[in-house]
Amino acid sequence: MQDAPAGSLRDTRELARLYSQVSHWQRDRGLRLIETAAPEEGEHVLDMGCGTGELTAELALRIGPGGQLTAIDPDPQRLAQARAQFGSGFPTARFVQTTAEDLSMVPDGCVDLIYSNYALHWVLDQKRLFGEVERALRPGGRMVTEFLGAPIETLIELLLMMPDGASAMRENVYMDEADWRALIAPRALAVERLDWPEIPLHYQNLQALFDWLEATSHGAFDHRKLSAENLAMLSRRFPSEIELPCTGLRMVLRKTE
Ligand SMILES: C[S@@+](CC[C@H](N)C(=O)[O-])C[C@H]1O[C@@H](n2cnc3c(N)ncnc32)[C@H](O)[C@@H]1O
Repeated sequence: MQDAPAGSLRDTRELARLYSQVSHWQRDRGLRLIETAAPEEGEHVLDMGCGTGELTAELALRIGPGGQLTAIDPDPQRLAQARAQFGSGFPTARFVQTTAEDLSMVPDGCVDLIYSNYALHWVLDQKRLFGEVERALRPGGRMVTEFLGAPIETLIELLLMMPDGASAMRENVYMDEADWRALIAPRALAVERLDWPEIPLHYQNLQALFDWLEATSHGAFDHRKLSAENLAMLSRRFPSEIELPCTGLRMVLRKTE
């Protein structure tokens, strides 16, 4: 794979386990996205940025024992958790440590479905990513993905309270619709759907928001590093349940030739 993303170098087994426990809204969106993707029995599915693998397991159930499943993630801790949780139930699934920019473990034109849930905003070289998608999909094959379409203001604020917050901001990519379309246009990929769902995020309390942000940012946010002033300010501002506005980006692309 190309260089490991900064988040993968920071990650720990505890953060991976925490992600698996608290990533409720991603999982909910991911299950809906599986309905959109409609994987069929016997298909070859690639789960791009599989994380701790709960959705990978759901994809495996859909394609059955005659299907082929390749789950990729650059993060060894999350991949290990995915393998440990679901590997034995799906002995034919392959869990491969790589980034979305390097799918060299699959031959040209062999994948029916590339599925990717809340991972693409972590992929820094988007041009290379779509080159790999175009190469790996069979003609008529599809990519079905949803990810963060825009930064979430409160989360940016929290990250910037960290000593290294500014560099954590550079770990995500956000673009407007014209730029996404321009990136995809030179490829043999037809955009069948591109929309921006609004997904309000709910957290029971401030600690639940901290836990989720720590896990999803691979520790770039760490509530133990908050200053006493910031912690007090946040506790006053968020005394009970928290709702944050969030915009996703959902795309269905079809390989045309
Ligand atoms: C928010 S998690 C989503 C995991 C899973 N798809 C889910 O919905 O629960 C994002 C995942 O993207 C992975 N990731 C980060 N950079 C990546 C890259 N360049 N290529 C593929 N995956 C990447 C992270 O390691 C992480 O597991």
